[in-house]
Amino acid sequence: MIDKSDVETNVVVITGAAGLIGKAFVRAVAQTGAIVIAADIDLSAAEVVANDLQDLGKVETAYLDITCPKSVDILIADLMDKHGRIDAVVNNAYPRNANYGRKLEEVTYADFSENMNLHLGGCFLIAQKFCAAFKAQGFGNVVNMSSIYGVIAPRFEVYDGTAMTMPVEYAAIKSAVLHLTKYFAQYFKGTGIRVNAISPGGIFADQPKSFLDAYGSRCAGKGMLDPQDIANTLVFLLSDQSRYITGQNLIVDDGYAL
Ligand SMILES: NC(=O)c1ccc[n+]([C@@H]2O[C@H](COP(=O)([O-])OP(=O)(O)OC[C@H]3O[C@@H](n4cnc5c(N)ncnc54)[C@H](O)[C@@H]3O)[C@@H](O)[C@H]2O)c1
Repeated sequence: MIDKSDVETNVVVITGAAGLIGKAFVRAVAQTGAIVIAADIDLSAAEVVANDLQDLGKVETAYLDITCPKSVDILIADLMDKHGRIDAVVNNAYPRNANYGRKLEEVTYADFSENMNLHLGGCFLIAQKFCAAFKAQGFGNVVNMSSIYGVIAPRFEVYDGTAMTMPVEYAAIKSAVLHLTKYFAQYFKGTGIRVNAISPGGIFADQPKSFLDAYGSRCAGKGMLDPQDIANTLVFLLSDQSRYITGQNLIVDDGYAL
């Protein structure tokens, strides 16, 4: 758990907080007693998440566009004004353009570049700007969201008979996120900043049965995971129990990538 002696002052920013995994992250981190900033480009969706967790008491919302330097600067300045510190940022937002998800042959250069720019560029921007603030305050923790598909080659056969694929941009983005994690961890050594990554396996979201069966047959027991299955790993990486872990990637995938 996040250090309980410090719970009143732990401030954790979660980007993409209104999404499938983001919601579970907000809940799990709020349950530790931390102040959670549910940040999303869709502010009204983030407000719904915060309202649902009203009983936990410490979920705040913020508008954030991870692809806009000014938006990131404003969020950091507002939080420093209000709380005087930011303990951690979870780089979880998932921007993509309208053509994202096409098969390799159909991906245009413009779409490839735009999706790299939005997701990888945004992930870099968040890490860069929060690490600058963390360096100035003398501590900070970054958790980047990668994926098993940043680690292993796609298994295209699990998508047979469906309209799904594993987008080529995603492989490039998520593998780069893993190396950026090491780069940042190395760069900020000695400054009190830790930088780690989580690589989840697939998350259940009503995918076609043929896909779920094919995917599940490669796993140890559960197959596609639920968002909560990833959240405990996030809490560990945010906590003092992982204080000597930096530059690492934790794969949470029920064995799919083996
Ligand atoms: N869902 C999965 O199966 C899975 C598996 C492995 C890794 N991941 C990773 O986990 C993270 C979260 O995925 P998800 O499935 O919850 O995504 P999601 O699409 O459900 O949610 C993404 C959230 O990001 C927000 N967002 C989009 N663009 C933004 C921007 N420019 N600035 C701020 N917020 C923005 C959206 O409004 C949304 O709330 C992603 O990095 C994704 O790659 C997901």
